[in-house]
Amino acid sequence: MTDTRHAPVTDWAEDFDHTDPTWAANPFPIWDEIRASSCPVAHTTRYGGAWLPLTHELVTEVAYDTDHFSSRSVIVNDSRPGAIAPVGVAPPISSDPPFHHGARRLLLPEFTPKAIAPLEDFTRTYCSGLLDAVASRDVVDAAIDYGQHIPVRVIAKMLGFPPEDADRFRKFVYDALERVDRPPAERAETIGDLVGYISDQMVDHDANPRDDLTSFLLEAEMDGERISRQHVFGTIALLLLAGIDTTWSAIGASIWHLARNPGDRARLVEHPELIPSAIEEFLRAYAPVTMARLVKDDFDFHGCPMKADDWVLLSFPSANRDPRAFDSPDDVIIDRAENRHAAFGLGIHRCLGSNLARLELRVAIETWLERYPDFTIADEAAVRWSGGQVRGPRVLPIRVLDG
Ligand code: HEM
Repeated sequence: MTDTRHAPVTDWAEDFDHTDPTWAANPFPIWDEIRASSCPVAHTTRYGGAWLPLTHELVTEVAYDTDHFSSRSVIVNDSRPGAIAPVGVAPPISSDPPFHHGARRLLLPEFTPKAIAPLEDFTRTYCSGLLDAVASRDVVDAAIDYGQHIPVRVIAKMLGFPPEDADRFRKFVYDALERVDRPPAERAETIGDLVGYISDQMVDHDANPRDDLTSFLLEAEMDGERISRQHVFGTIALLLLAGIDTTWSAIGASIWHLARNPGDRARLVEHPELIPSAIEEFLRAYAPVTMARLVKDDFDFHGCPMKADDWVLLSFPSANRDPRAFDSPDDVIIDRAENRHAAFGLGIHRCLGSNLARLELRVAIETWLERYPDFTIADEAAVRWSGGQVRGPRVLPIRVLDG
């Protein structure tokens, strides 16, 4: 297949590309330089035009400003969705006010700490099983053998989808989120597989309703009326995609950090009660998710001449490294006292699955550290981070010393 990737970046302030391998490998120096400059908003003409504000203040401003910025598409690519606001293709993440409020409220009860608590034992048993399967090895890939499986298995259980379809879900995520620099026709073809899969699941759940999220959505009402099939479809697609490589990335980044920082590792083994605050710090320092908005109409944003349908990337990861918002932002302090990080977003679209993500992360790290109190990176050169809007380790070979 011909390589359609964009040309390598030589000017990050005027011609950035978040899918460039340099960004995937280490974006922090790029962000630091632009954030500290007199114009902390990078620009590119790629993808039909995109902006990248890098300070905490500007990211917050865009996230809260639903008058100028639309969520009708949140993944930067070469095409633009038609006039589908305020619902969008994957409510509530693609919805604007006023529709967004109801679409989000509908889902909230399914993701409260109480609602997801019963998943903890299941997740723990599943994580242990993953490590049992590689027990004879002294090199375990924390991304491939471990992290990637956990959120897929949990969301498949919640949606009532067959666990054996996990590989297909990961391919859907890869197509939707990592192959954004492919031509629109190629993207449309691969997204067609996702559409077919979810449609089949909806038909199956129509015929055999069960106690799961898919059946819940098929029956759900907003303002006294059953939500449309299209809305059900879009929300299922969102839940399937939103929780997988995000959580996988966060699990991987946490293990990557612990492999390279023996002091933090030993402290968490000795004081597992610190794991929740360590996880918040890993989320801050290695925040995996950057979302996007589309500019509604031509408008001047702090001297940036934004045009209708330009993209604006919301770099929650860069906001979390802004020295004006966090003391010593590049230091990872696992018991950081104040940590109001933006890894789960800001404003009306703040992550609806954050309780679930935190549960999965905590259980995954607890289970890993119980099994492997001591470990290092087996081969630094082999480690690979994903590019695009969800950044995390996709290859992470770990040498386990006490396996
Ligand atoms: C560490 C893991 C995760 C991270 C870092 C993360 C991050 C985010 C971020 C930054 C947003 C804001 C999007 C925006 O402003 O456009 C978001 C929204 C969302 N997330 Fe997550 N997420 C994670 C896991 C999950 C999980 C496990 C689920 C559920 C299965 C989930 C479901 C959602 C949904 C439904 C929204 C849209 C909320 C709305 O539009 O009102 N996320 N997430």
